[in-house]
Formats: sequence, structure tokens, C-alpha cells
Amino acid sequence: MTSKTYNLNRRWKYLADDAELSGMTELPASRELADVTLPHENVLLENHKSDPDAGVDFMDSINSYRFVSCWFRSLTLTEEMTAGRLFLEFDGAATVAEVYVNGIFAGAHRGAYTGFSVDITDKAHTGVNLIAVRVDSRRHADIPPEGGEVDYCLFGGIVRDVRLKITPEVYISDVFVTSDVNGSVTVNAEIKNMTGRAAAVKLSAFISYCGAKSSENVEKTLEIAPDSTVTAPLSTNISEDVRLWDIDSPHLYEANVYLECGKIRDFRLERFGVRSSMFTSGESESAFYLNGRKIKLVGINRHEMWAWIGRAVCDKLQRADADLIKSCGFNAVRCSHYPQSPAFLSRCDEIGLLVLEEAPGWQHVGDEQWQKEYLFSISEMIVRDRNHPSIISWGVRVNESFDSRELYEKSNALSKRLDPTRPTHGVRRLESYMDSEFQEDVFAVNYTYPERPRFTPFIITEHSMDWWSGDGFPGADDDGARKFIDSFAGAMDYYLGNNFCAGGFGWSMFDYNNEVNYTKTGHVFYSGLYDIFRYPKPVSYLYRSQKDPADEEVLYIVCSPDGGRNMRDILVLGNCSEVELFMNGKSAGRMRPNLYMNLPHPAFLFHGIACEAGELSAVGYRNGAEVSRCVRKTPGTPSSLRLTPEYLTLVDDGADLTNVWIELVDENGTVLKGADDKIEIEVSENAEFIGERAIALEGGHAAFMVRSKDGICGEVMCRARTRDGKIHGDARINIIPCESEELI
Ligand code: GAL
Repeated sequence: MTSKTYNLNRRWKYLADDAELSGMTELPASRELADVTLPHENVLLENHKSDPDAGVDFMDSINSYRFVSCWFRSLTLTEEMTAGRLFLEFDGAATVAEVYVNGIFAGAHRGAYTGFSVDITDKAHTGVNLIAVRVDSRRHADIPPEGGEVDYCLFGGIVRDVRLKITPEVYISDVFVTSDVNGSVTVNAEIKNMTGRAAAVKLSAFISYCGAKSSENVEKTLEIAPDSTVTAPLSTNISEDVRLWDIDSPHLYEANVYLECGKIRDFRLERFGVRSSMFTSGESESAFYLNGRKIKLVGINRHEMWAWIGRAVCDKLQRADADLIKSCGFNAVRCSHYPQSPAFLSRCDEIGLLVLEEAPGWQHVGDEQWQKEYLFSISEMIVRDRNHPSIISWGVRVNESFDSRELYEKSNALSKRLDPTRPTHGVRRLESYMDSEFQEDVFAVNYTYPERPRFTPFIITEHSMDWWSGDGFPGADDDGARKFIDSFAGAMDYYLGNNFCAGGFGWSMFDYNNEVNYTKTGHVFYSGLYDIFRYPKPVSYLYRSQKDPADEEVLYIVCSPDGGRNMRDILVLGNCSEVELFMNGKSAGRMRPNLYMNLPHPAFLFHGIACEAGELSAVGYRNGAEVSRCVRKTPGTPSSLRLTPEYLTLVDDGADLTNVWIELVDENGTVLKGADDKIEIEVSENAEFIGERAIALEGGHAAFMVRSKDGICGEVMCRARTRDGKIHGDARINIIPCESEELI
């Protein structure tokens, strides 16, 4: 047999309570169990933010996920399966997980952001087994990032995928691939021998590209002592022109690794990319180079969370976040402030999005035990993710922490030992910028814009904070939206024009829930280019408009002609070379860009435009020809609720899910940005409704989610209406059978 992996996400039973799992061999008949599919949150939050007028305090929602709960699954194993070694692989559970099989403790894991594997071989048997997982989602001051204040929510649940992996007694337990741009590749294969006897192993490997062989086979024989692990390097060369992994052409190769040991066979396929990636430091410049090409990192920070659910969403949504970041024009993302979903990182590999990944931590460094956990999470992160070509640096300093020399000496050394190919970066506390020690390879700080950084290579890991005053609110007026855009554009203008700063990462891609509420914004940080429902704000066009027009022609007027005030400065964002503005069909001027001149596509600021009610339009030109157009209209009277599902089709696996946006629009489809009506929502029973049955519009829009129910297909009806029932809208979502393989 060779190793085989089965997805184990479906057919779980959930108990929203603690239970004694030791000795439990049957499902607890007396308790209320829900049928669920993983990833699964321990509780759906009642609200997505505080609403003092309605007496809603989001702190209650936060407290509602801090408890212990249990998931159960029966697992039928055939004789062929139990002939191998059996592992349960969890990609993530928040925060402490204990796994039992047939009432016997099999393993535990601490930490909400990294995965773990539990060997269940001698606890499972042929026939029906009971898997039980206890997840403690309460506070854990001894596990990073907790112990101090953490400004984002950790949430609870089995938040990522679970698999059953079956291996032979001698098997390939890990593969770490290193390569260079000349095509030489080293496959470091880790082999475990669990036979209790010495094992003579023949290892071989070759490289393929999209399944076609692209290197010679290399072989090696090894003798492995009983019950031990060895790592063997196998070196080969790509025999054709090397296809480099790059942001524009993210070519991926596969390492095919084979093991033979008597009758035992094993195989592992590991995806990787060939590229050179480095930060340089010199007298006249310090920069980031990918495959010898200088690339300014135009990045954004991403938190992994969704309204009401927290972190437990299916892989499709994780991947969609990466796609959205890329389509917005970014070439880099910072996983703030923890290792993010494997599905997200794999997607970054596939689409050519560079990644800064970091171990969990936020401003707080704890005691010795805490530091041990921190270092352990670094090793888990690096071993899990070191084959992702998208990752260009490891974050081995707690985000915004003060110096802690001994700890960061250890974290840097650990990183180098586990992955000698990548640099490290460390985001120091802003107040310590002037005296902080430089222990990493890349010096990083947030919200600081030095002409000549104290150390290079240098990156700004967070910038732009003006949302604080409300400018990032979904309902911010045009002036607010303009100030918000200015704060991002100003920082970009700085780093794009500075020879010593390798790039910057805006704060943040999405609005998100926080615990501390120091901004007094109902436990939502409105710092996103997209709101908490992934609905775009005007600032998203700032980045979009930096894209190569060959990818997308972008033109956006940051002004809604509401007729409120007359003479206005009007900002237009676009990647054309000239813009002409029209107010109710009359030209209000044609111009070349005049603002944020360091940007690849600077903005157009029209001064003193007589802004009447009606239609404001912009036409973009390149080489004299029209290439883009944007029309903004004064909203009329509200006419309907437009419901837009992000996905019109879901599969019936019980985890697939879509956002449905609600917008209050007039008869032309123009959103009434000022609207804050309460909307009531209904979703047919053949799918799960996630959200608030009555939700207030913010900036004319709101959202809810629809999740499929396991095994139920058909059309889902979604309806929304204003409280008086006068304005309404509907949408349909189709649920179709899920075709992926599953275990009973
Ligand atoms: C930073 C911090 C981020 C976030 C941000 C809010 O100081 O690193 O996690 O809290 O502030 O502006």
C-alpha cells in the first residue's frame, strides 16, 4: 500500500458542551447533538457588532464563543485500512484540542493557528470507531497570542479541514524541497520506520511540471534503525528550461517521491516553485528582488475572519480572499498576525501573491512557558509552510513587541535551522523604532515612514490609520472616503518613491471584529478596503486603479452627485492617461493625473467643480482613444432591495457558503448610500441562514450568509424587506450534489 488521505469534513455530530470523552465508545445518547460539517464554529454569533440603540453589546457575542465543546464522528475502517498506520490530521482548532478514539486519549494540541496530526493506529480497529474531539475555546493566557490584550478575536471551533491519513509502516513523513534558478533541486525526504526492525529503504524522486516528467530519476538506499526517523536529500536537475515561479507567471513543479522497502511502497507528491527571492541592502538602495527583478512590495494585511462565523469557513472562501487581494492589484499580503489557512497559502502560490507569514503574537511577550509555545508555533509554521514559493519571509518577532533579545535570538536561529532559504522579519513596537535592536534579516515597523531607515532591508508592515475617525465606515461620506484614500495613497507615495523601503502593507484588506473596542466602533475595526462582508469601499479602487490596464481598465469617481454642496474638488481614480469629467453631460474639464505622482497610475483631482444633482460621469482616454467610463448618479427614491449572492451555486456538503449582499437601490440601481433602514431577511429551510434576521443597512448595504445543509439540494429562496414591507427583493441560490470522495 501507499499512503492515502481521505477528507473527513462531513458527518460530524456537535455537542455545544463539555463531555467526559475518556471511556466513551458510543455517541452520548442523552445529549443534544447537531449534524455538522467541518470547518465548524462552536457557535454562530448573534451579531456582527454592537448596536447600543438596540441594546446589543458585541462583547456578549465574544463571550459566547469562549467555552468547551465536543465533536464526534463515527469512522468505519476496513481491514485494508487498519493494516496501515492511521493518523487524524487537523489543520486547526481554536484553541486547545484533545482527541479521543474509542474512548482512549490519542493526542492533544495547543494553539489556534497551526495544524496537528494524531497517530491513532493502536486505538482504532476494523469496523466502526468513535472519534471524539474536545475543543477548549476559552482564554489561554499561556498560549500566544493571548496573555495580554489581543485586539482581534480568536473565535472557537474546529476551524479548518480534518483528514484521515493512512500510511504503511515505513513511510514518507515529510518533504522539504529546495531549488535554485538554474534548475537544481534537492528533495529532502523525511522517512519514518515504525516496523520495530531495521529497514532497508530505496528512495527515489523526480520532478514533474503539470504531471509531465521534467527531471531524471534519482535514487538512494538507506538503512533506517527501528522506530526512528531520518531525512535524506535527493538531488536532481530540471532538464528543460526552468519555468520560474513569479508574480506574473506562478509556475509550480511537483516533487514525486517514492519509497520501497521490501513489499512496502509509499509515494508523496509535494508542490513547489523555483525562484530566487531576496532583500538587498546597499548604500544607494535597499530593495526586494524576485528572480533578479526588483519588485516593490505593494501589500495589504489580512485577518482570517468572517462575520458571525469567525474563522471556520470552507476552503473556497479562503481561496477567494487570496483572489480578491490579487485582483485588487496587490503583489503581496501579510498574514497578520498568525499562520493562516493552508488553502489560502496554496492559492497564493497558484496566483503569484507574495506572502509574509508570522507566528501568532500581538504586542505581548509572556513568561518562559509562553515563550516555549511561541517558539513551538514557529517550528510548526515553518515545517508546515516551507514549500510555498509565495512565502518570502518568516515573521519571528511578536507583532509590535518591544525588544526581547534572548527570545528573538532563539526565534531567528530556529527559523534558520528549519529553513535556511528564507529571511526573517520582525515587526517592532513603534515607540521603540529609534532604539530597537535589529536581530532579523528584514527590519520592519508599522506606521513609520523614514526617509533613511535606521536599518535596511526595511519594510513598513502596516500603514494608514485614518479610519479611526470614521473615514473607513461603510457609510462614510465622500469627504471621509477621500481622506481614507489619502491615507493609503500618501503611504504608497512614500514607499514607492523611497529607495530604501522595499515596500509597504496597508492596514487592512477587510474590516474585522476586535475584542478591546478601544476605537469605540462597536467592536468592528473599519480599517478595511472591503467591509466585514467583503463589500468594496471606494478606497479599493485606489489599488485597483494601479493595475496594468491590460489586466483591467479601471475608472472610479470618488463622489456621488447628491446635490448637497456645490463647488467641489473631485477625485477620480483610473489607470488611463487622461480623464474628462462631465456634469449632466457638460464637460467640466479634461486633465492628466496630478496627484500621488509616485504611483504607477497617479490620481486625477479636479478642482472647484460645480456639482449638481444628476449624472456625474468620467471618460478615461489613452492615446486619445476612450478606454474606460464611470457614471455616478444622484440616488432617487428607494425602489427595491437588490440581493446579490457572491456565489449562485453551492454544493450540498454542509459547509459550502456564500455571502449575500443587500443594497437599497433606486429604480436605476443606484445605491442609497445614506440609508440605514432595518431590513428583515428570510431564507428557505433547505439551507442554513447565517446572520441577523433584522439587520440595519450601513452606507446603504448589509449582508447575510447562506450555507448548504449536508445532503440537501435544490433552490434556496432568499427574501429581504424593509420593516414596513414596502420595499423588498429576492435572490435564488442553487444547491447541487457534492461530488468529492468521502468516508463513512
Ligand atoms: C496595529 C496592530 C494591528 C491593528 C492596528 C489597528 O498597531 O498591529 O494589529 O491593531 O494597529 O490600527
